[in-house]
Amino acid sequence: MPQRIDGSGETIRFTFEGREIAARAGETLAAALIAAGETTTRASVVSGAPRGPYCMMGVCFECLVEIDGVPNRQACMIVAEPGMSVNRQKADEVAA
Ligand code: FES
Repeated sequence: MPQRIDGSGETIRFTFEGREIAARAGETLAAALIAAGETTTRASVVSGAPRGPYCMMGVCFECLVEIDGVPNRQACMIVAEPGMSVNRQKADEVAA
């Protein structure tokens, strides 16, 4: 399981599928989710297999989530902010 190297800094909170997640200020959503043990952010539109952050640099698009009702957001490229409501990407929301 990945662990934070440095536990210092301000803690902010957002929700993922209704669960409160604590993140360090400046941390991406993907990093915060992985640190919280949430490794599935969407399902494959072909097989339904679980998908989650992989490249952590905006290339693979495996980390797509819905943020505050807006789908197709890359969790690895967006810094977590207090009060965000993040949900798994629904298969019917994936951009063609
Ligand atoms: S983890 Fe690859 S684009 Fe986000």
